[in-house]
Amino acid sequence: MRKIIAFSAIVATVVLFANCSSSKKTTAAVPKFSYEANVQMAITTNCSPCHISGKGNKKPYDNFANVKADIDEIIRRVELNPTDRGFMPFRKAAKLSDSTINVFKQWKTDGLIEK
Ligand code: HEC
Repeated sequence: MRKIIAFSAIVATVVLFANCSSSKKTTAAVPKFSYEANVQMAITTNCSPCHISGKGNKKPYDNFANVKADIDEIIRRVELNPTDRGFMPFRKAAKLSDSTINVFKQWKTDGLIEK
């Protein structure tokens, strides 16, 4: 019985330490999302031509200042369903993928930095 208890204690300690060090590593390794590294690409891929200056006639989102200013409205609209009024991307049959929607949300969480 004692051996079992001692063994469980060792296992618990090892598991605890393993988790500690790995979670520290992940936090340090993940860079913050920035407009230039993450958001710009999501916009050019999904919001053109309408929101690209010189191509579309909607409010341009190919610049940091506008996207930053409108981020709440952008997140609200891409999270609507395609049949909802105001849904973006306009007239598309499907929502953006969860990972693309997450680019906008994570950028906001990370503080809306430019680069
Ligand atoms: C096919 C053209 C088209 C595409 C693609 C498109 N939009 Fe739009 N967008 C529009 C139109 C038209 C409006 C104006 C009508 C409205 O407000 O619903 C608009 C308006 C908006 C507004 C409100 C702007 C304002 O002046 O207040 C936001 C925010 C927006 N779009 C975000 C996006 C985002 C983000 C994407 C890409 C994921 C996107 N749109 C893709 C056509 C488009």
